[in-house]
Amino acid sequence: MDIRKEFLPLSRPELDDEEIDAVAACLRSGWITSGPKVAELEERFRSLTGAPHAVAVASATAGMHLVLAALGVGAGDEVVTPSMTFASTVNQIALRGARPVFVDSDYATLQVLPGEAARAITRRTRAVIPVHFAGAPADLDPIRDAADRAGIPVIEDAAHAVGTSYRGKPAGGHGNTAIYSFHPIKNITTGEGGMVTCFDGELAKRLRLLRFHGIERDAWKRYGKGGTPQYDIREPGYKYNLTDLQAALGVVQMGKVTRMNARRAALAARYRDGLAGVAGIDLPASPPYPHEPSWHLFIVKVTSMDRDAFIGRLADRNIGVGLHFPPCHLLTYVRQRFGTKEGELPGCERAGARILSLPLFPGMADGDVDYVCAAVREILSERRP
Ligand SMILES: Cc1ncc(COP(=O)(O)O)c(C=O)c1O
Repeated sequence: MDIRKEFLPLSRPELDDEEIDAVAACLRSGWITSGPKVAELEERFRSLTGAPHAVAVASATAGMHLVLAALGVGAGDEVVTPSMTFASTVNQIALRGARPVFVDSDYATLQVLPGEAARAITRRTRAVIPVHFAGAPADLDPIRDAADRAGIPVIEDAAHAVGTSYRGKPAGGHGNTAIYSFHPIKNITTGEGGMVTCFDGELAKRLRLLRFHGIERDAWKRYGKGGTPQYDIREPGYKYNLTDLQAALGVVQMGKVTRMNARRAALAARYRDGLAGVAGIDLPASPPYPHEPSWHLFIVKVTSMDRDAFIGRLADRNIGVGLHFPPCHLLTYVRQRFGTKEGELPGCERAGARILSLPLFPGMADGDVDYVCAAVREILSERRP
């Protein structure tokens, strides 16, 4: 095949004049930190999910930190999480002094196994954190049933799930707390940023306090006309607010997300056609329960050659990829601190050695997908005698 000149990245945010105009308008408005644009983005997430509360934050990682802090998770506590998740979740559990209890994921769908999650709950468990992996939903109902029996919350890691639905209702709309990411690779971006949605008004209040130093009143209300600058703090908080500059971007992206996700779905379908029947690669499996994926990532598994060598051959052809994710129980500090070992979680370990994420973003041309498919076929056929 002829090698393309331009590098094809794993992802590229779709930003055009509309986003540029919105950010410019915010710059001209005289108010660029948290204010009316953040409030507008929070409203968008209340209507997207049906959750009564939405709290914008600096990143999904910051959101996870705030939620664990607000729940009082600390030393001696356990939190149940799939190992096949982003390390930020495990870091936040560890930084609170708590223990992550890892459960396996299904090799084919990469979704956490609900039965394993239920079995991992003990008297010390303070929360369960399923991930809507690659934009398809985790099987929330059985996880929620097990958590309800133990009287603990489910925190949905919805970083991949803007536009995902499970059994006819959006991710984040099932009564749980959910955390979204607006990192540039995600289905919508604000540069960096995140959102926590929840159904518990007291939790939302605490998240708002902890998000901004513990100060009870929003800065734009204190500094605006008629505002008063005094404040008090009853409990120290963090500095995890989203800015209006970022939220201005997010509001425009939310207006485009249905279209952008439809384009992702069309590209994913094209990958499926282009790679159908190719030996040596497993295509992403769809979870068996009713759902609508956001097609955040298109993850394949290389079964007939070394995955890292395969990534190198794609790089030779100017194709970038991602790795979502190396299993967390095998990270060096996790092994050292929590005594986890290879062999404990066969599904996610087998997947972890084989997975890679192919380029997928709304601005990709059909021809880009065809090019990747041709490259995959060529690399895998070179392997055969
Ligand atoms: C599954 C998952 N959870 C959490 C995060 C953290 O998101 P953020 O970068 O907004 O902190 C990511 C980001 O890549 C993710 O993929």
